[in-house]
Amino acid sequence: MAHLFATVLPGLEHVLENEIKVKIADAKLQGSERGKVYFASGWPAEALMGLRTADNLYERIHRFRVGPHKLHLADIEREICRLDLSWAARSYRTGEVLFKVNASRAGKHTYSRFDAAEAAARGIARRDSRFRHNADGMHEVEFRLDIHHDDALFALKLTDASFRFRNGQRSFALAALRPTVAHALVWLSNPAATDVFVDPCCGSGTILSERLAYPHRQIAGGDLSEEAVEAAKANAGIHHRVGIHHWDARRLPIDSGSVHKIVTNLPFGRQIAADEPIPELYRGIVKEINRVLHNNGSALCLTDADAELQSAAERVQLSCTKVAALSLKGLHPTLYMLEKR
Ligand SMILES: C[S@@+](CC[C@H](N)C(=O)[O-])C[C@H]1O[C@@H](n2cnc3c(N)ncnc32)[C@H](O)[C@@H]1O
Repeated sequence: MAHLFATVLPGLEHVLENEIKVKIADAKLQGSERGKVYFASGWPAEALMGLRTADNLYERIHRFRVGPHKLHLADIEREICRLDLSWAARSYRTGEVLFKVNASRAGKHTYSRFDAAEAAARGIARRDSRFRHNADGMHEVEFRLDIHHDDALFALKLTDASFRFRNGQRSFALAALRPTVAHALVWLSNPAATDVFVDPCCGSGTILSERLAYPHRQIAGGDLSEEAVEAAKANAGIHHRVGIHHWDARRLPIDSGSVHKIVTNLPFGRQIAADEPIPELYRGIVKEINRVLHNNGSALCLTDADAELQSAAERVQLSCTKVAALSLKGLHPTLYMLEKR
């Protein structure tokens, strides 16, 4: 079994843990900490790429103790030089393999994370001459060294940016969620093949595009901005039983009681200019959410306008529960679950 960890937006660790448990049959969860979930699995790396809430996946290579002073950098170099890393270069048949090391550091040390990364890189290059350090430029292999006080974890990165940005096939609006965060919201909605799923303020369609990963009865989304609607259509592509429309979320062209799941990133913060103040806008949108929701339907809404959302939900007697507190682009939105009972 390989010992792995996955990174995730802090606040969403429990969502990723659940996704791992459901999707990776042999996975053994080994705990989590801020922004990281540890697990073991015998599945090949390619089979783990279906974890869509994870930003990156890493294979843990070595855990060791490290001292706080500059002289201890030599220990980092020595520890890493002891490791046989030839397997990490295996897929590159001939010639040298360019690599870099990313390091993080928390605690009191007289060296920086860059010093630690340099020490690890020296250890790698000393051990295996095929590896050539290229800190700032192109690289084929990326290692990671996380130092937390006297604990160091050395790992190999299994994914690149195309993993979390979905192969660069989408364009993202300014207020767009990262696909991995949108996916966590979708996962929390507990996708079912019978779902009629709606994002009433879809922007460039990140949530809709992520929902497409699972079977559905019907998916619909829309936005007040025609430009956003065009971007959402281009990003989601054309699919059977999926519709993206130019609409006003306060007047949805959807039958009452027909929607099972709503997941939406509401307009909030400094991201988006709405055409009326947030309290009135939310009253209009939440009233419409309540109208279109099926009995027992639910709506996951992300916003930092907590009081406005809670008050709008109370007016139409939707229950409103806090699901997760996030930190996104300098804002601190909360994810709420509105439920019709
Ligand atoms: C935070 S953004 C959503 C971003 C989106 N999740 C994405 O991936 O791009 C909020 C969106 O709500 C839209 N919006 C604002 N008022 C609206 C309304 N009354 N009806 C529908 N959409 C609205 C904005 O145009 C904006 O695209």
